[in-house]
Amino acid sequence: LPASAKCVSFLINTGVRTAARQSSSQPKVALLGASGGIGQPLGLLLKQDPNIANLALYDLVGTPGVAADLSHIDSNCRVKAYTGAKELAACVEGADVVVIPAGVPRKPGMTRDDLFNTNAGIVRDLVECIAKAAPKAFIAIITNPVNSTVPIAVEVMKNNGVDAKKRIFGVTTLDVVRAQAFVSELKSTDAAKTVIPVIGGHAGITIIPVLSQIQPSVKFSEDEIKKLTPRIQDAGTEVVNAKAGAGSATLSMALAGARFANYLVRAVKGEKIEACSYVASDAVKGVEYFSTKVQIGQSGVEKILGVGSLSPYEKACVEAAVPQLQKEIAKGIKFIKG
Ligand code: NAD
Ligand code: LMR
Repeated sequence: LPASAKCVSFLINTGVRTAARQSSSQPKVALLGASGGIGQPLGLLLKQDPNIANLALYDLVGTPGVAADLSHIDSNCRVKAYTGAKELAACVEGADVVVIPAGVPRKPGMTRDDLFNTNAGIVRDLVECIAKAAPKAFIAIITNPVNSTVPIAVEVMKNNGVDAKKRIFGVTTLDVVRAQAFVSELKSTDAAKTVIPVIGGHAGITIIPVLSQIQPSVKFSEDEIKKLTPRIQDAGTEVVNAKAGAGSATLSMALAGARFANYLVRAVKGEKIEACSYVASDAVKGVEYFSTKVQIGQSGVEKILGVGSLSPYEKACVEAAVPQLQKEIAKGIKFIKG
């Protein structure tokens, strides 16, 4: 049976109909793809997050071992394993936040879009089940190509009668982490205090670091900006090439994923969080999805905070990104709508 059919059968057998998010005082996070290169270190970091009470690990293989291992860590978060499509609905049921790194990573020479044929179907099937078992959950999508998998998730929810636009987040935190790392190294600033928004999408020229908005203020020469920007845009490829066929970024991504999941859990608990994420957005004319800083609260994205004031170079980067974003968004929507 496909995951969605197994999900329906679980819901019928357990009488779960429209599972609401459980009490935000005991937040539950479900991690789908938990045995993978990102999944394992991400699970480790989530297990140590004091805001998370329950961690549900799902994968096609290997979850009992990962869960047994993590459950020996002396933090208050409870860990449970779910394996195979028939256990997916039970994994996500009652989850406040579902984090999805399930799918295949790039090898040298591939673009993120080359992963579409495999990963689009994986995200579709997982979200189909979430729509039925946890329709109110926040969903953080790591699986590439993020520019397309986020529209796929929104469309699948829509097909199930759920308007989840404000609760589906493309995780672009790694781009922010990288921008902050590279700049603090170059300029000898404190990495922990360096804040740089990254807008656009999550592939090549759609990744736009807004160096002009860096906090605290730092001056860059034109030459520095023209070197830093492509380095940040191509940083994923730098890791893919260095790993030489063994996958893409996993450790830095785990850190970025845990940071973003922490934002979402804190938002569920009532905090107002400001962070960059690729979401359904009207920030830029001509594209339905765009990453900017957004305000996240208990109902999801509460405000799109916009691109802010951009330098002429950054404006040109946005213009250059729009056609690629339009294509990749349309590809995701077409995959579901046909
Ligand atoms: P991996 O191959 O090491 O792990 C993927 C895991 O997903 C495996 O354990 C696999 O069993 C599991 N999986 C596959 N199909 C599944 C399904 N239908 N249901 C549940 N689990 C399933 O790959 P990885 O290095 O962890 O990368 C995962 C994804 O994250 C890739 O698509 C990669 O491109 C993406 N990624 C995104 C970012 C980002 O910034 N958004 C950064 C790094 C990697
Ligand atoms: C990254 O930015 O590291 C990820 O999107 C993985 C990749 O394929 O580059």
